[in-house]
Amino acid sequence: MMSYKQAKYDEPFIKDLQSRTSFETISEDYDDGIVPSAMLNKEPKVPVIAEYDVVRHFTRLSQMNYSVDTGFYPLGSCTMKFNPKYADKIASMPFFSEMHPLRPEWSVQGTLRVMFELQEYLKEISDMDEVSLQPLAGAQGELTGVLIIRKYFELRKELSTRREIVVPDSAHGTNPASAAMGGFNVVEIPSNDKGTVDLDALRYAVTDRTAAFMITNPNTLGIFDPNISEIAEIVHSKGALLYYDGANLNAILGITSPGLMGFDVVHFNLHKTFATPHGGGGPGAAPVAVNRKLADLLPGPIVRKGESGYYLDRSNNKLGNIASFYGSFGVLLRAWSYIKRNGSDGLKMNSYRAVLNANYLAKKISKDVRISHTGLKKHEVVASSEESGKRALDIAKFIIDAGMHAPTIYFPLIVKEALMIEPTETVTKRDLDAFADLIHEAVTSTQEELHKHPVNTASGRLDEVKATRDLVLKR
Ligand SMILES: Cc1ncc(COP(=O)(O)O)c(C=O)c1O
Repeated sequence: MMSYKQAKYDEPFIKDLQSRTSFETISEDYDDGIVPSAMLNKEPKVPVIAEYDVVRHFTRLSQMNYSVDTGFYPLGSCTMKFNPKYADKIASMPFFSEMHPLRPEWSVQGTLRVMFELQEYLKEISDMDEVSLQPLAGAQGELTGVLIIRKYFELRKELSTRREIVVPDSAHGTNPASAAMGGFNVVEIPSNDKGTVDLDALRYAVTDRTAAFMITNPNTLGIFDPNISEIAEIVHSKGALLYYDGANLNAILGITSPGLMGFDVVHFNLHKTFATPHGGGGPGAAPVAVNRKLADLLPGPIVRKGESGYYLDRSNNKLGNIASFYGSFGVLLRAWSYIKRNGSDGLKMNSYRAVLNANYLAKKISKDVRISHTGLKKHEVVASSEESGKRALDIAKFIIDAGMHAPTIYFPLIVKEALMIEPTETVTKRDLDAFADLIHEAVTSTQEELHKHPVNTASGRLDEVKATRDLVLKR
């Protein structure tokens, strides 16, 4: 294990930095007497900061941080995978990055081709019939999917009765939130002792009032639900739709697909399954795919290929736009590059590797923490530190202090003292072994020793309660 010490600067806010170089600012000199003085703005408070100070400020902040470029980042459910630099390089090419969204179609044929091909690849990968690239993040993809479901029942004049969306208790928090934002009541059902959908509970919950059942498969416990065909049958037999949260699609690429499982609506988290940066609030991209019966409810524009080239089809815009212009084009471009570079075999191999790494790690740490629910896992594994007598929070701080990122903790909510670990396909065996050693060290440390950490990071142990209750994000 490398020794680790994070940089620590007493860094001021950028507005408090005063550069040695001064620049001309807007001032009273511009008062030419034409605009009445009462209407004149005061001198704007634009900070006067030289480029070198700005660059150094942000470089110092980055050194006080941890990232996928620094080391292993096994944040379960968030899929912080390494993003290859070729994708960044392609996305920074000026003819892409400086493209104006209002340019005429004939002059942006290459850009439209990238979008068209990405739509086709996503259809192929998911076995769905139509795709919109518009939504800007997983949660927004979910909301788009829910609004499509809403529109579908509105057009069928069933919306007044179909007021409910059913979710399992292992669902990511954005699922019930999106359902509620889309105007539905959320009905939660329990998982069974295998961590999958309790079919009896589902049969009871899905009724003529149900609009949809939202799940991710494999779920947030990293478990693939083998009853998915039966689930689809139960949901469809009541006239409801099946929604696939594609955040965990990186576990099944090229192996199975939401279309084959019987789903009607899918969102893809491009920042989890393909190569695009993730975190810090964006930018993300979450295209939405649907089957034939919902195809004309997708938000436009959709890119089509005609006889004289590619064009933007805005004809079916029953839902309206969900984002401005064409979504996060830079993110879509990175995902397209990643798919092209990997090809079908490469994508499938990535899923195999992600699954192998998760199971290898599960086996290694199982002597120190209990692996939640038996059997093989897919891309992520949930462990509980409950029996070890050590808190997941303390284990996480210990790991951070040794120069690795901590796993997600206390999620999914159905596992006590949960450590949710997602190694991804690019982790090395060396990192997996080092991570397992850290878990062992943490679990076998005394409580007193554990509480001292972290000491090697830019910030020590925070007062978590105060940070939650007394949230001050600016000065
Ligand atoms: C299972 C699952 N669904 C949905 C989301 C939401 O995606 P996003 O963070 O892009 O909004 C996440 C995000 O972590 C997730 O893990």
